[in-house]
Amino acid sequence: MCGIVGAVAQRDVDLILLEGLRRLEYRGYDSAGMCIVSESGALNKVRRVGKVIELSKALADQPLRGHTGLAHTRWATHGGVTEDNAHPHVSHQRISIVHNGIIENFEALRQEIVAAGIELRSQTDSELIAHLIYQQVSSGHSLLDALAATAQRLHGAYALAVMDRDDPSTLVGTRSGSPLVVGIGLGEHFLASDAGALLPVTRQFVYLEEGDLVAIRTDGFEVYDRSMIPVTRELFESSLNADAVDKGGYRHYMLKEIHQQPDVVAETLEGRIIDNHLVADCFGPESEALFAKVEAIHIIACGTSYHAGLVARYWIEAIAGLPCHVEIASEYRYRSPAVPDNTLFVTISQSGETADTLSALREAGRRDYLATMTICNVPESSLIRESDLAFMTRAGVEIGVASTKAFTTQVTALMLFTMALARHHGMSAAQEADLVAELRALPGQIRSILQIETDIARVAEDFTGKEHALFLGRGTEFPIAMEGALKLKEISYIHAEAYAAGELKHGPLALVDDHLPVIVSASSSELLAKLVSNLQEVRARGGQLYIFADQDADLVASDQVHLITLPVNHSTLSPILQTIPLQLLAYYVAVNRGTDVDQPRNLAKSVTVE
Ligand code: F6R
Repeated sequence: MCGIVGAVAQRDVDLILLEGLRRLEYRGYDSAGMCIVSESGALNKVRRVGKVIELSKALADQPLRGHTGLAHTRWATHGGVTEDNAHPHVSHQRISIVHNGIIENFEALRQEIVAAGIELRSQTDSELIAHLIYQQVSSGHSLLDALAATAQRLHGAYALAVMDRDDPSTLVGTRSGSPLVVGIGLGEHFLASDAGALLPVTRQFVYLEEGDLVAIRTDGFEVYDRSMIPVTRELFESSLNADAVDKGGYRHYMLKEIHQQPDVVAETLEGRIIDNHLVADCFGPESEALFAKVEAIHIIACGTSYHAGLVARYWIEAIAGLPCHVEIASEYRYRSPAVPDNTLFVTISQSGETADTLSALREAGRRDYLATMTICNVPESSLIRESDLAFMTRAGVEIGVASTKAFTTQVTALMLFTMALARHHGMSAAQEADLVAELRALPGQIRSILQIETDIARVAEDFTGKEHALFLGRGTEFPIAMEGALKLKEISYIHAEAYAAGELKHGPLALVDDHLPVIVSASSSELLAKLVSNLQEVRARGGQLYIFADQDADLVASDQVHLITLPVNHSTLSPILQTIPLQLLAYYVAVNRGTDVDQPRNLAKSVTVE
């Protein structure tokens, strides 16, 4: 989603801003721009539709020099993808702003600005904010007071950074619903929507809280809460690696991230299992007492993270014997769910900033939950900061928009969570030891599945000209089929649906003909015989079956049956293993179709608007 970078320094800031934008590219965007106050006190801006590289080419022809500036990558909401709609927006050649989020009272504000005789140059909600701030500063308010007064009038989500041509010594910002961090350098300060944007210039960050306002200068910064009371926010030293945004020799970030899975899964397990048991307090010191009280689980997430939750439901109910409800956040937040006594509310998120998941957490705070917990990949994220308990997946920075390593580490973490609950709900020491052994074997098993990458790349060639695909699975492989379909559709743009195999004859079988590839995740479990019957239904209608089966499944290839045997045996963790070939399949289909694998059209990495 949109990205913000701002800088006040004693040197030219154009290259800092440009590198920041480059580092925010993974969030997904469709235009980019930069505005800098020149030495002669003019606001100069350059904006381009398309990638940051287009902006960088334009800046080569038309350099922007100066010590104070703002830059932005825009993911269109109000108004199409045009240069006029790209940020920064400027009011009266004096105020320049960049905005992430969506303003819901846009129409009322637009009418007010038009009635004041101001000619709008874009169709965006963001330009209105620039004019509202201008109105305040031109009637004598300081830039920070103008921002505070304007923010109070905005309904919706925003992170804003604002610059005044008449006082380039200061940049101001505020946030509500969208993240904003302050980067602290030596004799220079920065604003960004994501700490990763600023890693080449600083490792020290202050994360603004909801409603906070900030003023940054070369020699310092001040933070205020929404009532303009000065506040102190904790300083964080980032452990993120500035090189994490390199492709490391791979053609795409997604491929690099698929290959990192053995290591990051091992990392997620590190220090959390010892000998043949789970480390008792690996969910935090309070978790032991809390988990003993838990009688039900509600898991809320979006997209891929939701699929991770769906896998966990099978485990939590079967292994811990606790009722587990899993729901997408955008639905949960607008209904009135019944909350059984002693229910633990759990969010799952790679970014920790997904707007719907965050709002669901805040809704949960108004309901009668025992406690809230998040399973998340970004240490300083809003979900981590606002949840009672936090468990970190350790996937490292995920750049590819299509989530891969974040998913497998989430599902790994969810097995640890299941075990942590089950310890208080009847799991025997022997069962715990078996699960620990399976977890220990997991990184090696993922590694061996990655060995058959070329076989999967060959299978992917069959899909290049397809427009539809059907994914099937049963039990814990059903959410994996959903995840496989999501991966394929988001990066290759092939329409893909997933069904529980037993549901086939209740409708989707009508789609099956000899053009439709049907992808099946088959793990040798007690459901295999049932799955095989479902596959016969597909075969009888001429459907082409692509079956990913583990070694124990004992299936045979034939005319219509393409069998890809995974070099692993069945285990409780099979859903994690079954994910890997589907990621590779989606990747190679997308490469063959020539799509933008890492930044698929219309999508954003961190979905910070509703
Ligand atoms: C798909 C994908 C998305 C995210 C979803 C939630 O590959 O990445 O579906 O899973 O937008 O994002 P997080 O996990 O950051 O809350």
